Amino acid sequence: MKSYIIDGGKKLEGESYVSGSKNASLPIIAACILSGGVTKLYNVPDIHDTKMMLEILKNLGCKIKRNSGKIIIDSKKIKKYEIPEHLMRQMRSSVIIAGALIGRLKKATFSYPGGCDIGARPIDLHIKAFKEMGVNVEEEAGKILCNVDEIKPTKIQLDFPSVGATENIMLASVFSKGETIIGNAAMEPEIVDLQNFLNRMGAKVTGAGTNEIKIEGVYKLKDVSYKIMPDRIEAGTLLCAAAITGGSIKLKNVIPEHISPVISKLQDAGCNIQVYEHLIYLVAPKKLKAVDIKTMPYPGFPTDMQSIITTTLCQAKGTSIIIENIFENRFKYTSELNRMGAKITIEGKTAIVKGGKKMVGTIVEASDLRGGAALILAGLSAKGRTKVKNVEYILRGYEHLENKLQSLGAKITLEEGE
Ligand code: UD1
Repeated sequence: MKSYIIDGGKKLEGESYVSGSKNASLPIIAACILSGGVTKLYNVPDIHDTKMMLEILKNLGCKIKRNSGKIIIDSKKIKKYEIPEHLMRQMRSSVIIAGALIGRLKKATFSYPGGCDIGARPIDLHIKAFKEMGVNVEEEAGKILCNVDEIKPTKIQLDFPSVGATENIMLASVFSKGETIIGNAAMEPEIVDLQNFLNRMGAKVTGAGTNEIKIEGVYKLKDVSYKIMPDRIEAGTLLCAAAITGGSIKLKNVIPEHISPVISKLQDAGCNIQVYEHLIYLVAPKKLKAVDIKTMPYPGFPTDMQSIITTTLCQAKGTSIIIENIFENRFKYTSELNRMGAKITIEGKTAIVKGGKKMVGTIVEASDLRGGAALILAGLSAKGRTKVKNVEYILRGYEHLENKLQSLGAKITLEEGE
């Protein structure tokens, strides 16, 4: 068990950079299964979730070499098509390996995925899509067994623009004999990164970034090198860390367009933000203003930023209303914030934040990745010392977060033990 110890109240000031995207890396690593050759990936964040994804690929027979952000994956020999349950339980995105295995071997066996406890997170849309593609799906003793002779080119209309289901269909259909169309597809930038990667390997995917994606099957893929896009949620987290402490930040290696709803809400809250091609400057006001936010699929305000912005708004003058439309159980961290002196009331999927009162450091526990990061932000702005326990959740998704915050002047250390 590890904990973060934070001595709060210091304005964050200076320059930082954004690491490679977690949510782009995971499907792209899974997509390496399709290559049947050697793929070089750059800018892969060194975090627990990418380690787990690589562990699954290794277990299936891939050879992996890792040198910090550079990873070489040799998928010439895939020996197995069953994802072990203990690895499957480690994280939800393991489910997209199923699409890659179906695409490559025409069969996959897996169990229900694990991951952060932020709601029910079913996989019905993934299963329904596989079935529409002609995959025979059976459930036996908690395992899901998939096999198919040939993927059937078809149009799949998603009931909800699920990111994972969109990725799974893209991966499963790369070698189909014909055209697969995804209607009501997720439009997240990570889907565009996956399309760009697949096309670099020789796939024929168009439309990512819009709500209709077309995948024209190809016979084979080739060996490539690919650099993962920057992490938009980490970018938003660092901007909010500067905003909540009344500081200023120059943030490098960022794609501002990917976080325009976050930039816009921080501007509404009174932050002065200047945007350049891969650079953002933010100067926080003396006092933040309250703003209302609704999470939505991209290009709406990202659910992964909900806990971070809610925490930031605890320091704003006035009452902010935050509506969480994507996951039903994503307000757990607010009870920890209230223990630090925040005034947040939850009514169904709405958080009512009465802001403006300084929080006070105490011992709090992370219960999911982004909720955990929110507790760090609270600690940075609070009076006195905050201990954030269960930081393993946070280490799943942020690369060297404490080092980046330290370089901005924060007093934060990662300590072993309870
Ligand atoms: C991905 C992201 C996660 C982000 C989420 C929404 C990765 C690795 N994770 O998760 O960080 O918070 O998108 O932007 O990229 N749903 C169903 N049935 C399904 C699939 C999803 O009901 O079969 C529901 C989910 O319960 C949720 C909503 O659809 O309420 C969105 O889920 P989805 O877009 O699939 O999220 P993930 O791909 O799991």
